[in-house]
Amino acid sequence: MPEEGGFQTLSDLEESAARRVDPKVWAHVQGGAGEQRTLRWNREAFQVRTLRPRVLVDVRRVRTAHRILGRPVDVPFFISPTSQHGLLHPEAEVATARAAAGRNVLAVYSTLSTRGLEEIAEAAPRAPRWFQLYVHQDPAITKDLLQRAEAGGYQAIVITVDAPVLGVRDSQDKAGFVMPPGVPLGNLDRYASSKGHEGSLRQADHFARRTDPAMTWDRLAEVRAGTHLPLVLKGILTAGDTERAVDAGVSGIVVSNHGGRQLDGAPATLWALSEVVKASRGRLEVYLDGGVRRGADVLVAMALGARAVGLGRPILWGLAAGGEAGVGRVLDLLRKDLEISMALTGCREVMEIRPEMVGEIPRDG
Ligand SMILES: Cc1cc2nc3c(=O)[nH]c(=O)nc-3n(C[C@H](O)[C@H](O)[C@H](O)COP(=O)(O)O)c2cc1C
Repeated sequence: MPEEGGFQTLSDLEESAARRVDPKVWAHVQGGAGEQRTLRWNREAFQVRTLRPRVLVDVRRVRTAHRILGRPVDVPFFISPTSQHGLLHPEAEVATARAAAGRNVLAVYSTLSTRGLEEIAEAAPRAPRWFQLYVHQDPAITKDLLQRAEAGGYQAIVITVDAPVLGVRDSQDKAGFVMPPGVPLGNLDRYASSKGHEGSLRQADHFARRTDPAMTWDRLAEVRAGTHLPLVLKGILTAGDTERAVDAGVSGIVVSNHGGRQLDGAPATLWALSEVVKASRGRLEVYLDGGVRRGADVLVAMALGARAVGLGRPILWGLAAGGEAGVGRVLDLLRKDLEISMALTGCREVMEIRPEMVGEIPRDG
């Protein structure tokens, strides 16, 4: 990665990626649903928060080590599942997996990955990894995916629940994005009909043909019956759904609006976080993704009750800017930024991050 030294922030990697990636693909990566209000709010919600420093604490040693669902990881952030890394780099999820494994960072891999989950596991056999499931219309496919994930050493199943149908993706449609041929769906192509690979379908068609819009809370039991792994629900934004998730016995939820790509008008994830944390009453782990770009963002979300936070687009920027090294740079920059933010707020360990550290910009300020 020739420009590595020049990447001082995630925004630098974003700019580099923007220059390298085909504009249609870039519209797909960056875009949100509808008027992109939710996409904007995700970022704005962080930008109106302040951090209240605690001074005169011995911060010679600051440790970001943490546990997510009981498993030790080196940082309290993880890689959120994003589809088709092959759109950004030929090594696709293999590059992402190596970067994450080298740093003991948890990564969640999408049902819609370019590389199959077995190949991803082989690239980084000992790394912490979860599998993101879209429940399929054909129950045999869902069952097979669950079995393959378990056999591949994935440690949890993340069921994405905010996408029974695809959001209104005006911005990428206007740009003319279609799934390019030659970028396979490594998990799913084996289930394709005798017609073989479906070629350059619109993403909406992929979705309409495969994921199950009839999925309900009652049917979570079917998924549970298909795996021994803990379940995490991704895309919860309200207290009511948090109660249902607790009742369903899941181990964790991700407060997520799919990076503003599904329901435009859904709240910023940081706004929804407190409601969900309160309703969970410590009965499951609560994570957040959407708009996390800085160490200070990680700190704010954790102070407000997130056990860990996920990164979506920044990983794709790193991948496009420099493959494995680019993703590694994103992870290293965020870790450094978090360490400094922790030191300056008097936190030597992740468990010392507290709600009273977060404030808001005064309205009359
Ligand atoms: C290009 C792209 C593809 C995505 N694909 C998936 C997916 O396959 N499954 C899923 O659960 N979420 C998917 N997401 C949502 C991410 O997991 C995550 O919720 C979101 O990107 C977080 O917001 P951020 O991009 O602001 O960090 C995707 C997001 C992007 C940008």
